[in-house]
Parts: sequence; structure tokens; C-alpha cells
Amino acid sequence: MSLLSACRSKEPVQLPPVARNELRPVATFSIIPGEADRSRALFLEASRVLLHPRCANCHPSGDVPLQGMDMRPHEPPVTRGPEDRGVVGMECAGCHQDRNLDHARVPGAPNWHVAPIEMAWVGKTPRHICEQMKDPKRNGGKSLARIMEHNAHDELVGWGWYPGHDREPAPGTQAQFGALIAAWVNTGAECPLEGQSP
Ligand code: HEC
Ligand code: HEC
Repeated sequence: MSLLSACRSKEPVQLPPVARNELRPVATFSIIPGEADRSRALFLEASRVLLHPRCANCHPSGDVPLQGMDMRPHEPPVTRGPEDRGVVGMECAGCHQDRNLDHARVPGAPNWHVAPIEMAWVGKTPRHICEQMKDPKRNGGKSLARIMEHNAHDELVGWGWYPGHDREPAPGTQAQFGALIAAWVNTGAECPLEGQSP
């Protein structure tokens, strides 16, 4: 075999298929030999949650939160306002309580408000989201330890798996997602390359 064909045969490792509503467990990624490649693959898996409408609808790239699986603008019309909590008379907490109100279809969790614009994920690549999440200037001043903690335990994050009414939850469970983020951090928190998608 020539050197060239030896290089060509270094195909990326194929991960086993996964259902849309599930996450591949951390152990699956042990088939990827290099730690940096493994780290990128772990983040790509986590980005299946981050880019799911249950998360991304509240991490919009403009002033308006989004709704539903088709990620349409929030109805009734609302905007983020000066502190990401709505404007006077149309505050998020005026409608969104600390829990889902199923008869009224209003989703809820403690401290409901929209993610700051620097944490916008809609229309962004996994690489962009990864770089943002690692950057204390854009992630609310969080260390990687606090990013792990936030993803594993934050109540707005947790709502993504208990969205109420007939909403589709984010894939997998919050515990599995937290484990993917922890494994990503522990393998060096490498970011996917531009063009890599889950
Ligand atoms: C109701 C709105 C809302 C929903 C739903 C929501 N977030 Fe957020 N998110 C926020 C707000 C507000 C902040 C900023 C507050 C903070 O950092 O504590 C934030 C910050 C974050 C951060 C830390 C900063 C960053 O971007 O690196 C992460 C990580 C995060 N969210 C993950 C998620 C994930 C994962 C989901 C879905 C499972 C989700 N969020 C769903 C509102 C939301
Ligand atoms: C006047 C009441 C009202 C106000 C004010 C309001 N919301 Fe909503 N919001 C709703 C209702 C009702 C729904 C559910 C719509 C549906 O599913 O049919 C909703 C849904 C959402 C969803 C969609 C969840 C999903 O994934 O489908 C998000 C995100 C959201 N609101 C964020 C916010 C934020 C952030 C604010 C403040 C800036 C806010 N809302 C202000 C009533 C309100």
C-alpha cells in the first residue's frame, strides 16, 4: 500500500446510528482513538440538544424568543427588553410561572427569561456555539466547571426535558446530556471544526 492510500484509508470512525429522540451514551465514543477527535464528537452529540427547539427557542439570534418545532416568532409578540425579561406590561414572568401551566399551554420554570444575545444559538454552527460556551466574556463569566454544572442542573435547562403540553422534549435525558458535556470537558473541551455537524 502506498503512503497516499494509507492516508486515504484513515476514514473518520462511524458512530452507531441513534434515534432522533435519544442520545448516544458517553461510552459509545470510546471507539474514537484520538482524544481531540473524541472531544469534538462529544460536543457534536451535545449540540443535538443545544440546537433542539426546546433550547434554541430561548437562545434566539434576535430580540424575539421563538416557539414550537418550526421555531416561529413568539405569539403574542414579545421582545427581550433591556434585561432579557420582556418590557413593562409584557414581562416574561407575567405569563410564564415557575412550572408548566398545562391547561393554558404556557410553559414555565423558575426565573423564566430569554438568553442574552451573546448566547444566541439559532442559525449558528456547533463550532460557534462551542467557542461561545467556553468564552467567559460570552457565557456569563462561567468557568468550564460551572458550564458543566449549569448544563447538568440548571432549571431552565432541565425544562427542555419536561416541556409540558404536547411539546417534544430534547433528546435523551438531562443526566445523559450532562455526562456528554462533562466528558467533553474532560477530553480537553475541543471545538468541532467548521463544517462539522451532528
Ligand atoms: C426559558 C428560556 C431558556 C431555555 C428554555 C433554555 N435556556 Fe439556556 N439560558 C437561558 C438564560 C436566561 C441564560 C443566561 C443565564 C445564565 O447564564 O444563568 C442561559 C444560559 C445557558 C447556558 C450558559 C451560557 C452559555 O451559553 O454558555 C447554557 C450552557 C445553556 N443556557 C444551556 C441550555 C440548554 C442545554 C437548554 C435546553 C435543554 C437551554 N439552555 C434552554 C435561557 C434559557
Ligand atoms: C402574554 C403572555 C406571554 C408573555 C408576556 C411571554 N410569553 Fe412566552 N409563551 C406564552 C405562551 C402562551 C406560550 C405557548 C405558546 C404555544 O405553545 O402555543 C409561550 C411560549 C414560549 C416559548 C416557547 C417554548 C417552545 O419551545 O415552544 C418560549 C421560549 C417563550 N415563550 C419565552 C418567552 C420569553 C423569554 C418571554 C419574555 C421576553 C415571554 N415568553 C413572554 C405566553 C407569553
